[in-house]
Amino acid sequence: VDLAALEASARERLSEATYSYIAGGADDELTLADNVAAWSRYRLRPHVLRDVSTVDLTTSLLGTPMSSPIQVAPTAYHRLVHPDGEAATAKAAAAAGSVFTLSTVSTVSIEDVAKAVPEGRHWFQLYVHSDRDLTIWLVQRAEAAGFSALVLTVDTPVIGRRRRDGATGFSLPPGIEPANLIGFREGRTESTNLVDFAATAFDPSLTVDAIGWLREHTRLPIVVKGVLRGDDAAACVAAGASAVQVSNHGGRQLDGVLATADALAEVAAAVGDRAEVYVDGGIRRGSDVLRALALGARSVFVGRPVLWGLANNGADGARAVLTDLAAETARAFQLAGVRSCAEAGSDLVS
Ligand SMILES: Cc1cc2nc3c(=O)[nH]c(=O)nc-3n(C[C@H](O)[C@H](O)[C@H](O)COP(=O)(O)O)c2cc1C
Repeated sequence: VDLAALEASARERLSEATYSYIAGGADDELTLADNVAAWSRYRLRPHVLRDVSTVDLTTSLLGTPMSSPIQVAPTAYHRLVHPDGEAATAKAAAAAGSVFTLSTVSTVSIEDVAKAVPEGRHWFQLYVHSDRDLTIWLVQRAEAAGFSALVLTVDTPVIGRRRRDGATGFSLPPGIEPANLIGFREGRTESTNLVDFAATAFDPSLTVDAIGWLREHTRLPIVVKGVLRGDDAAACVAAGASAVQVSNHGGRQLDGVLATADALAEVAAAVGDRAEVYVDGGIRRGSDVLRALALGARSVFVGRPVLWGLANNGADGARAVLTDLAAETARAFQLAGVRSCAEAGSDLVS
């Protein structure tokens, strides 16, 4: 899969507003561009003369075996790009042996994703809404539907300013709704306007205590997503996080923040072996996956490329993105003399 061609082809199929909503970032999109560029600034230091006739990409996340260190990041509103929406993406992830992270603002509900893909390994991305009862309602539904982790997004005290969305007037077309948020209160439907949603859903008063609060309400492990600093990561782990996901929301929140590639090593060092560390943002090549593992991530998560695959060819298109990235990663392992994820150590990058 040529990701640039895949994006171009998705663009042709989508409205300009939808394409720009997905492709875009905040303000001047400095971080958006740097997320991709930063990985390539790390030079690989390959071993030679290792027997790489077989390489093993398998790993485990939160104690569960996975086919590869490549998983699906939460992104909103998949029915914008394909009628099957998140059911198709979840199917693609399951076929690739990857985790599928369902966004709070998915267009297929928690229950319908579980029903459509019972064999999948689903995680639920949670915003701690200002309305804590609504938050608990979502958590309980994810648990009941068999989701196996909560991904608490913490880089959204308010929504970043996405100038492209202002220019195109992006809004959800009729019939495409945040499926999880319907029916909590009789007679009330959550706004489908992104900015209004953020104003009611995001809680700018949130502190690290939210992690302990959430733990009291769930038996699921908590992944804290959106951390860029070692001190914050250590605080999240001390508060009970099982994993930390280095992320800047794909460059969609504070513009000018460091690329996730550049934040990763500090976070990994601060967390040590007390929790797992993941990363997302700008992963486009198998060699990026190798760099991420070498810089201390246990796994990577991919956002936009999966949506481009979904837009082009539904579940098959999204699966091809994941399996091709895994094949590229296997080749990068071989060319770097690395036989397993455990062997992808910090000596491989400089
Ligand atoms: C269209 C779009 C919607 C997103 N929606 C969410 C979301 O609902 N929740 C969340 O935690 N992150 C969301 N993200 C951020 C992604 O989870 C992830 O951090 C980012 O896309 C990774 O970067 P990449 O797209 O370069 O792979 C979204 C990103 C995009 C592009």
